[in-house]
Amino acid sequence: MEFLISEGYDGMSRSAADVVKSVIVDDPSCVLGLATGSTPIGMYACLVKDCKEGEVSFKDVTTFNLDEYVGLPGEHDQSYRYFMDTNLFDHVDIDKARTNLPDGCAGNLEQMCAEYEQKIQDAGGIDIQVLGIGHNGHIGFNEPCDDFPVATHPVDLTESTINANSRLFSDVSEVPRSAVTMGIGTIMKARKVIVLANGDGKADIVKAAFTGPVVPSVPASVLQLHPDVTIVLDSAAASKLDI
Ligand code: PGA
Repeated sequence: MEFLISEGYDGMSRSAADVVKSVIVDDPSCVLGLATGSTPIGMYACLVKDCKEGEVSFKDVTTFNLDEYVGLPGEHDQSYRYFMDTNLFDHVDIDKARTNLPDGCAGNLEQMCAEYEQKIQDAGGIDIQVLGIGHNGHIGFNEPCDDFPVATHPVDLTESTINANSRLFSDVSEVPRSAVTMGIGTIMKARKVIVLANGDGKADIVKAAFTGPVVPSVPASVLQLHPDVTIVLDSAAASKLDI
């Protein structure tokens, strides 16, 4: 595990964008695993800037997002499809037909999950997976539980995640109660993983996840077992690490 520690949110965003950019430059038809949330917004802004300045092209890139709410169509401004369109896809030269998110409106969610998993495999697997980390250690919507879920699956959200995400909705009652997420096994199969975290509020979970025991009650801790993980932090999120 490698730690990349930068000054402030902008520094973290630039470092993370540089890691993703170098993967695309090395292999212009690579497969990106992408994440939503507040944390990667700055990284996406850096990648948009880099694309506009001709430093990187998404023309042949394929993407798979980690997760999506159940029941929110892509036009809903809190859906993760909408997030990805507005923060990245609409501003770079990507072919939208190559951008994939789980379909949270599918009639048969179990079948959709199996097909999503297959589609990732058919694309050759994920070259780099971008992750945020929840205050409870979740990655994607893999919440703390008794085991590590293997594949893409539907999930009921915990109260802590519903409350954390309610800041983006006009009322907590509007936050979907369930979602679809890649499993821990899906994430662990990615050839490279980067985890982004910034701010004091993430310092405790960063320490627990990346220096504590590997336990399913802290889902991100499993990444300690991955052969190629870079943890990209600002100094506040890194402040409780002994490194
Ligand atoms: P955040 O969410 O980036 O909005 O803090 C991270 C996560 O819940 O994975």
